[in-house]
Amino acid sequence: MKITIIGAGKMGRALGYRFIDGGHSVSIIAHKPEDGEKLARELNSFSKSDRASADIIDEAELGDVVVLALHYPTNKEVARQLGDRLAARVIVDISNPIGSGMDTVQTESGKSSPEEIAEIVPKSASVVKAFNSVTAGSLLEGKMDDIPLEIFFAGGDEKAKGIVSDLILDGKMVPINVGPLVKARGLESMGLIFVTLLAKDHWNAASTMRYVSPSYEVVKC
Ligand SMILES: NC(=O)c1ccc[n+]([C@@H]2O[C@H](COP(=O)([O-])OP(=O)(O)OC[C@H]3O[C@@H](n4cnc5c(N)ncnc54)[C@H](OP(=O)(O)O)[C@@H]3O)[C@@H](O)[C@H]2O)c1
Repeated sequence: MKITIIGAGKMGRALGYRFIDGGHSVSIIAHKPEDGEKLARELNSFSKSDRASADIIDEAELGDVVVLALHYPTNKEVARQLGDRLAARVIVDISNPIGSGMDTVQTESGKSSPEEIAEIVPKSASVVKAFNSVTAGSLLEGKMDDIPLEIFFAGGDEKAKGIVSDLILDGKMVPINVGPLVKARGLESMGLIFVTLLAKDHWNAASTMRYVSPSYEVVKC
């Protein structure tokens, strides 16, 4: 599958590693073209392949999946800029739109960031929230202490969520579907708590959030 990652920062880089590791092709659209080219070279050297490339936003042929590895509200501005070119694409929003005091989730409408993006993009596009509850540091490896990362995601379109779920599995991680797109509000609140804990942990970039089920049978009451 061809995946376009917009943003070559910490998360864009880490997602590039997971997708390339999963056998996919990745095209990077960076703010500065040289950053995209540098990341593409790094990913090709990691995978010993030529499946990564760099593109510029006005000319790129977008992939089946477009990941907005951008801060909020830049992700919305870029979605607006791409407009009809996003038709029929799966759009992945990874943002944690947190207010300046780091006390609340803060979006323009009070809805989640992907719900706002869904109002901007063509109706044939499907927006999925994912990857906001793991750090870029942990995502690079896709695992911690040899245990695969759990990746929570939410979205309104089952087919689009199936595609994202497969990408997560291909990247050697565990997909956890939390429900329709409105549940992205919950994921963003989780992200807020995660960021609060990270700040206390001196921004330890390898930390992650986990969902742990017991391996033994639970007595139901
Ligand atoms: N870091 C984490 O561990 C983490 C974890 C979960 C979720 N998130 C979320 O992931 C998103 C990205 O975070 P990050 O840590 O990767 O941030 P980052 O390292 O600051 O990267 C953001 C990137 O976006 C680029 N950018 C800005 N405007 C752009 C445009 N118009 N076109 C293309 N690229 C553009 C920036 O380029 P310039 O620097 O050249 O402007 C920068 O490389 C945020 O929404 C954040 O909340 C981050």
